Amino acid sequence: MRIYIDQASEHVGEEVEIAGWLYNKRSSGKLRFLILRDGTGLMQAVVFKPDVDEEVFALTEELTQECSLTATGVITEDPRAPGGYELQVKELQLVGKSIDYPITPKEHGIEFLLDRRHLWLRSRKQHAILRVRHKLIRAIRDYLDGHGFVSLDAPIFTPNAVEGTTTLFETDYFGSKAYLTQSGQLYQEAGCMAFGKTYCFGPTFRAEKSKTRRHLTEFWMIEPEVAYMDLEGDITLIEDLLVAVVARMLDQCREELKVLERDTSGLERVVKPFPRITYDQAARILQEKSTGFRYGSDLGGRDETVLAEHFDRPVMITHWPHQVKAFYMKRDPADRSKVLGVDVLAPEGHGEIVGGGQREDDLDELIERIREHNLPQRVFEWYLDLRRYGSVPHSGFGLGLERTIGWICGTRHIRETIPFPRMMYRLEP
Ligand code: 4AD
Ligand code: MG
Repeated sequence: MRIYIDQASEHVGEEVEIAGWLYNKRSSGKLRFLILRDGTGLMQAVVFKPDVDEEVFALTEELTQECSLTATGVITEDPRAPGGYELQVKELQLVGKSIDYPITPKEHGIEFLLDRRHLWLRSRKQHAILRVRHKLIRAIRDYLDGHGFVSLDAPIFTPNAVEGTTTLFETDYFGSKAYLTQSGQLYQEAGCMAFGKTYCFGPTFRAEKSKTRRHLTEFWMIEPEVAYMDLEGDITLIEDLLVAVVARMLDQCREELKVLERDTSGLERVVKPFPRITYDQAARILQEKSTGFRYGSDLGGRDETVLAEHFDRPVMITHWPHQVKAFYMKRDPADRSKVLGVDVLAPEGHGEIVGGGQREDDLDELIERIREHNLPQRVFEWYLDLRRYGSVPHSGFGLGLERTIGWICGTRHIRETIPFPRMMYRLEP
């Protein structure tokens, strides 16, 4: 019977077949230790010369890193072995050769590895990060699906900008212009007016001309939007979602976080309430630290890191000057130079993981904002309809998937948190 390595505990004492790839091997006298991987884990297969046919033992000499093979034998328990189980081999079959596999256990440069991302995915740490990604997506969807949200996909081709016009990817759309979406938010605003609570989870695109460790040109965002919810409700939803998701990651990604040597003490402190400061308070902290921050401007990467160091859990920054935020943000009635926006900065220098806030729900105000931002009103007519027909206060946010993975895994650079990163200087593989 063929089993996956992660099912070994259910088959102790049984003869099974493992189908996988050779991760590593070593020998000692009449013993050959083959470390197999099959995507679900690693397992040591032991080949003892007196126990197998001559050809089987001879084959072990030919096996090279990442050749594909099947191994048949009996599962035994061994706490010293990686994963806790071993295969006592009877039969081996080479499936596909692997000559001069380029990624060896020695150190490689990052560009070398990124050029071979299609192979690098097989390495232990990369494999662990991408399993965390998989589980995180599940956790976020489970949370939202379990709280009455309807998943509503937003289009990728769009006629308008959402997050400013400087980072748009333009493409020809049968003779007219289309842009790759920067955010599905505007469509979720339509969605929440129809379903109450919706979210989209999809790829978003920004022509980021900066080479930073926090920016991709293609990244994934989770964007919930709720009708009849104000900034306060938005903040609570963000906190609840992050607390639930981080707790689930700590519970379900223990193995992966161990492989990544992640110190999880910071993640264990992610409980409510998160510290909250206004933009003005943030500005005061930054001015004391002399980061070069200028009041009225957006936070730079360094500002984010300095602010996050002040707190032991994610920090929420609210009430931003309107000129640093997008056109759709609602003005604060108590101070019209500010908008009812909220950003969340992750601890340990992982930067802004959430951006959101309350939306402008008044038709005339919104038209004025579109004008102020020099945006063409024509392509926003459908969006303005949402204020013409039963407008209500509503709020939402976007959680950047890759930055959140980077934070959970403790990965310094965002490029390792997505299977095939797209950055200014990287379109391949
Ligand atoms: O703050 P942003 O630009 O907000 C929006 O797009 C809103 N329309 C979302 C909403 O309210 N529905 O982006 C949201 C998050 C950021 O906080 C960050 O985590 C991530 O998306 N993000 C990026 N991640 C990787 N690479 C980039 N270039 C990113 N730009 C934003
Ligand atoms: Mg933002």
